Amino acid sequence: MAKVVRINLEPPEAELIDAAAAVLRRGGLVAFPTETVYGLGARALDAEAVGKIFKAKGRPAHNPVIVHVADAEQVAQVAGAWPPLAQALASRFWPGPLTLVLPRHERVPLIVTAGGPTVAVRLPAHPVARALLRALGEPVAAPSANRSTELSATTAEHVARNLGAHIDLILDGGPTAVGIESTVLDLVSDPPRLLRPGHITRSQIEEVIGPILHGVEPAPPDQPLRGPGLLPRHYSPKTRTEYLNDGATRVRELAEQGSRVGWLTFHHSALDPQVVAVEMPTDPQAYAARLYAELHRLDQMRLEVIVIDQVPAQEPWLAIDDRLRRAATGEH
Ligand code: TXA
Ligand code: MG
Repeated sequence: MAKVVRINLEPPEAELIDAAAAVLRRGGLVAFPTETVYGLGARALDAEAVGKIFKAKGRPAHNPVIVHVADAEQVAQVAGAWPPLAQALASRFWPGPLTLVLPRHERVPLIVTAGGPTVAVRLPAHPVARALLRALGEPVAAPSANRSTELSATTAEHVARNLGAHIDLILDGGPTAVGIESTVLDLVSDPPRLLRPGHITRSQIEEVIGPILHGVEPAPPDQPLRGPGLLPRHYSPKTRTEYLNDGATRVRELAEQGSRVGWLTFHHSALDPQVVAVEMPTDPQAYAARLYAELHRLDQMRLEVIVIDQVPAQEPWLAIDDRLRRAATGEH
């Protein structure tokens, strides 16, 4: 079982960071907070260590992992090129929740890139992640610290509950601020292509580098989305989840049938006692910060269905809408 260690943010205790770096150096797995979600880290240039990440997550070998770096200079260790567009975006958004897909450096083990010619690189903004990367002095492969297709972790408790048996150490830096995973932008394709929407929006990126393509087109709420390298079912609670335009009607219907229902909504009125309603923030940043914690909590309650009200069809909500569509996709 993983050791869970509480760590300060400003500044993180040096002895805890050194101990975590030592675990990574000997090929172990360390879960740590980033500003988006918790990551499950291993030395990126050590194929055997990265193999442990895939095993712990139950992650299919065709899904590549993100490499985290301490500074922009370290990118040269993992990427074969650093195009001017990358420099422009890094100057504006790093450290921060933007992942850039670049040509792979031949030194990067193929397990990291799922056998492909590109590598995804990110420089996180979280003080614990940054201190750990600096102390280790080499890149760290870190997908989100959750079982494959399940909900990402925004607290150390989420990590411990779902992955604790497979990890050496969990650094507990409290709840993460952004709450959803980084924006992933493919800079190898021309024009660049948004592979995963996130906190940094398409417009913000286009302000810096001009028009890009969006690999994940908006679709009706009941249809799954498809994006390159991304699984349709993802970020899913174990409980059956429905993402609906008219959640209120569905919740009433389910309650009348006697089902125990969880409901993420913007406004709820008088309710059946079988309905666990959560009033979500109307600000997209605040919504994202709470989303996974609420879904983890509802998922623990042995409900039959989770109903989620559709979020506004506006750009600041796009990343949340993407996660909710995926949460509601597929077999349970
Ligand atoms: O916010 C985040 O990005 C978090 C924190 C821990 O940094 N990490 C994260 O990693 O969400 P993960 O592995 O759960 O998601 C990475 C996404 C996957 O959808 C994967 O398919 C895509 O990035 N990806 C990774 N490498 C890629 C590549 N070379 N080309 C295209 N997509 C890639
Ligand atoms: Mg993930």
